[in-house]
Amino acid sequence: MRPNRPRLDASRTCRTCKLGEVKKTDIVYDLGCGDGRIVIAAAKGLGARGVGIDINPVRIGEAKENARKAGVEKLVRFEENDLFEANIHEATVVTIFLLPNINLKLRPKLLQDLKPGTRIVSNTFDMGDWKPEKEAIVPDTDADAYLSHRLYLWIVPSPEKTK
Ligand SMILES: C[S@@+](CC[C@H](N)C(=O)[O-])C[C@H]1O[C@@H](n2cnc3c(N)ncnc32)[C@H](O)[C@@H]1O
Repeated sequence: MRPNRPRLDASRTCRTCKLGEVKKTDIVYDLGCGDGRIVIAAAKGLGARGVGIDINPVRIGEAKENARKAGVEKLVRFEENDLFEANIHEATVVTIFLLPNINLKLRPKLLQDLKPGTRIVSNTFDMGDWKPEKEAIVPDTDADAYLSHRLYLWIVPSPEKTK
């Protein structure tokens, strides 16, 4: 057990919401939501609604339990699904913490399914030649942090701009 781990992660979830400019009116989708910490933080801290999608039923069970403990069950829901199959149209902010090849495979779906103006925040991995609007580094307070905690922000362009 590393006592400083939660502090680092609280910083990461906050910074993710900040870079995505999450506000109460947003619907945050975390694709590959793990234990639900991003959408739970957005709901608890900012009052945003959220949907977490994960292919692993154990993670979905944990996320539901964590939402219950945080008292945000009315704002969030969790779905066991493959993120490539999920209906993500209503999202106004999408967060991901996946892998480089999955980001690239996901890019066409994000551009096709999401409304122009939707913010996408990725932890650690970029989107190849789709240049981010902004980048941010989460302050590293943990000596053995295993990832860079670099965050990237993209904004879905209008269809004319992607031609
Ligand atoms: C590194 S964790 C990120 C968890 C959380 N988003 C966060 O930022 O803390 C990646 C998660 O993506 C999930 N995942 C990987 N491939 C997936 C897929 N095709 N569909 C849905 N979830 C997937 C894994 O089960 C895992 O829980």
